[in-house]
Amino acid sequence: MDQRHGPLYDMSALGFAPGGIVCITGAASGIGKATARMAAKSGLTVAAWDIDGPGASSTVDEIAVQGGNALAVTVDVFDEAQVDRAWRETLALGPCHYLVNNAGPPSRSQGRFAERLVEAVGSMERVAERWLSHCGGSAASMVNISSIAGNLQGSGKTVSAFYPAAKAAIAGLTRHMATRLDGRPRVNAVAPGITITPRVEPMLALPAMQDLAMRIPVGRLGFPEDIAGAVLFLLSPAAAYINGVVLPVDGGVTLA
Ligand SMILES: NC(=O)c1ccc[n+]([C@@H]2O[C@H](COP(=O)([O-])OP(=O)(O)OC[C@H]3O[C@@H](n4cnc5c(N)ncnc54)[C@H](O)[C@@H]3O)[C@@H](O)[C@H]2O)c1
Repeated sequence: MDQRHGPLYDMSALGFAPGGIVCITGAASGIGKATARMAAKSGLTVAAWDIDGPGASSTVDEIAVQGGNALAVTVDVFDEAQVDRAWRETLALGPCHYLVNNAGPPSRSQGRFAERLVEAVGSMERVAERWLSHCGGSAASMVNISSIAGNLQGSGKTVSAFYPAAKAAIAGLTRHMATRLDGRPRVNAVAPGITITPRVEPMLALPAMQDLAMRIPVGRLGFPEDIAGAVLFLLSPAAAYINGVVLPVDGGVTLA
């Protein structure tokens, strides 16, 4: 274990069926990459989606070195036509049982509030709806990556306004889908606290971030693998009776 990564647990004891397939968006980096590697270590075949094609291929290469199976898919999830094409490529693996909606715009993205909001929330809704239309009978569960921002924190000093608005909307989308679909697939969300990923590293020196980091009860920032473990648990049959939750994975900072 180094200062940026936690252990990559084998979660196969959680009941995933042999031959299970998971699609993970934003799998080239950070939380998505850790989730892809942990999913593969747990016996799942991974469709590693990312706008960064070489990055997605690099994740697939690392999974191959681990002895796992994965397919890299280059896609901008904000683009409807590309999402359709990506699902067609992914179906070459077979029907996809699990979805992790992880990719989203960086929290300090500039630009028009409404456009960023639609990118962040609309892309997750679109990827999920296309998944259900292609794989409905096989779809077992999905996890959306939200945030403590917008749900448990205002984050007014650290992120752009669209970000907490989008992450709260993703929580709402999660609850809507969880109750609309009669429990199949189950739909849950994970709300990470500050997690050490390439996206966040440049912000760690901000005074507001340092203040927040010092208040984390477990005494450290999150590792991508901390989030991956929660995602894999919620996806798994071990979480069969958990539906519609937004699970904070934040070291307890929002209670401190
Ligand atoms: N890191 C944190 O502290 C933190 C906290 C709360 C929530 N989150 C959420 O976790 C998710 C992952 O963040 P991260 O910190 O791992 O970031 P990251 O930058 O390390 O990884 C994000 C990945 O998503 C890909 N991506 C971005 N836009 C895309 C698009 N339009 N289509 C396809 N792929 C795209 C990027 O290329 C990158 O590989 C995001 O939804 C983020 O909002 C992160």
